[in-house]
Amino acid sequence: MDLKKLTLMPHGLEVLLPVGSPLTELEYETSRRVIPFGCQSGACGACVIEVLDGFESLGEMDPEEADFLEDLGRADGNYRLACQCRLISAATVRVADDQ
Ligand code: FES
Repeated sequence: MDLKKLTLMPHGLEVLLPVGSPLTELEYETSRRVIPFGCQSGACGACVIEVLDGFESLGEMDPEEADFLEDLGRADGNYRLACQCRLISAATVRVADDQ
């Protein structure tokens, strides 16, 4: 199985996930919920993350996700909805509202 590394800041937590995994798979790899999730379908906005490294590693952003991020005021910068990302290669992210 081809695994890719997802690093979560500011904890520095590193998790290996199978290529193509939604970031919601983190639920099964860690003992705590490091990225908040709600609907897991791109509709609630609970899972906004800032991509610190590897923006291209999280798959294509579809128009619905882009529109919703714009509605949330997160169109500028490296924001994604964690539930809509698919890990293609190594990436480093943090929860958008973490200090
Ligand atoms: S969990 Fe609701 S938008 Fe991602």
